Amino acid sequence: MKLPDFYAADHAAIEAALEQILPAETTPPSSIHRAMRYSVFAGGKRVRPVLCLEAARMFTENLAAAVQTGCALEFIHTYSLIHDDLPALDNDDLRRGKPTNHKVFGEAMAILAGDALLTLAFQTLAGAPLDPERRVRVISEIAAAAGTVNGMVGGQVADVEGEGKPVNAATLEYIHRSKTAALIRGAIVGGAIAGGAASEDVERLRRFGDTIGWAFQVVDDVLDVEESSAALGKTAGKDQAQQKATYPALYGLEKSRAIAAELEARALAELDAFGERAARLRQLAQFLVARRS
Ligand code: FPP
Ligand code: MG
Repeated sequence: MKLPDFYAADHAAIEAALEQILPAETTPPSSIHRAMRYSVFAGGKRVRPVLCLEAARMFTENLAAAVQTGCALEFIHTYSLIHDDLPALDNDDLRRGKPTNHKVFGEAMAILAGDALLTLAFQTLAGAPLDPERRVRVISEIAAAAGTVNGMVGGQVADVEGEGKPVNAATLEYIHRSKTAALIRGAIVGGAIAGGAASEDVERLRRFGDTIGWAFQVVDDVLDVEESSAALGKTAGKDQAQQKATYPALYGLEKSRAIAAELEARALAELDAFGERAARLRQLAQFLVARRS
């Protein structure tokens, strides 16, 4: 699956900003800054920042606040991966094609690097060049998306507690919409607010974000079964080995692919009202469902 043609430029803008915001490796205490930078620059696709930028671009040409919001989202996402890979959670050795953070820096430093990235995310949001009212709305949206009530940590709790138990449809939906879709929705809604969108447009994009984020995790489950560790940059086949609550486990591969396609169509329908203005979000949605890694 080819990346949309605008992706490289967005990606480059995000890389430059991440580089600027993260403390240098030489800043004391250098061990934590090395650990933070190791995982942030391990080759992630930057899906959430790119969604954030393109949601903002629908409403403004000034993308400075969306770039900063995008970096904050990538810090939160990266912290979640570092902690997810710890022995106490999924216990994984490979992430983004490299040894996991705790394998390189030890468990103590990996825990602290995750803590530090989460903290830096909110410092970054607090400094976004937005009027105070919108800045607080962005902070609140992203905090909720990363939190415990229908947010990333809540979903992760259900994921951990669901291991080894029979999967049921309602819990599965809750896990996927919370642990993954919430932050993707936060990226899109955060970008829209940073771009100055009116409430009606923010709400439409919220529905788009929730649904495409849900599809994203269904696809992630499918890829865990279908692809190799080399293609994914993380240990393939892990979900089944750990008896995780996944779409393929409950519905099988074929039905899971059909569910992802149906969610994609539902998400795209939310963009109809925007016409051509949503062309890039449309392309991103299609890419997120067709991706192979
Ligand atoms: C891959 O994203 C990651 C997901 C699909 C999210 C899975 C959710 C968690 C690990 C939640 C963990 C939460 C806590 C609190 C520990 P991606 O394909 O965008 O990865 P990339 O950035 O490497 O490209
Ligand atoms: Mg996990």
